[in-house]
Amino acid sequence: MTYVVKGECVDCKHTTCVKVCPVDCFYEGENTLVIDPDVCIDCAICEPECPVNAIVSDRKLKPEDHHWLDFNKEMSKEWPNIRKVKDPMPSFEEAAKYTADEQWAKVSRIPFKEID
Ligand code: SF4
Ligand code: F3S
Repeated sequence: MTYVVKGECVDCKHTTCVKVCPVDCFYEGENTLVIDPDVCIDCAICEPECPVNAIVSDRKLKPEDHHWLDFNKEMSKEWPNIRKVKDPMPSFEEAAKYTADEQWAKVSRIPFKEID
C-alpha cells in the first residue's frame, strides 16, 4: 500500500508534503513530484499537507487515475529526492484550472534542475 501524487501537482509543486514524510520518499521532476511506492510506509501524514489534494491512497485511486500510480513508481526511480520545502511554481494558480487529461498531457518526465 502506498500514497500517490496525482495530476493536481502538475505545474504546481507546493512541496509542503515533503517536510512531513518520515521516510523521505518524495522525488522531484520538472513540474511535479512523485512518491516511491516501494519506500512509502502508508502513514498518511502527507495527505492533508497538500493544499490542492494531489495526494491520495492507492486504495482510493479511481480507475481512471490508476496511471498515476504507475507514473509515481516509474519516475521515482529516475528523479532526485526532495526533502526541503520550496516556493510553489509560478504557474500554481493556473494549474488549478487543468482538466485531468490536460494534467496528464502536461506532466514532464524531466528531472528538476536548479538554475543558478
Ligand atoms: Fe511519506 Fe507517509 Fe506520505 Fe508515504 S504516506 S509519502 S511515508 S508521508
Ligand atoms: Fe505537489 Fe501537493 Fe506536494 S502540489 S508538491 S503533492 S504539497
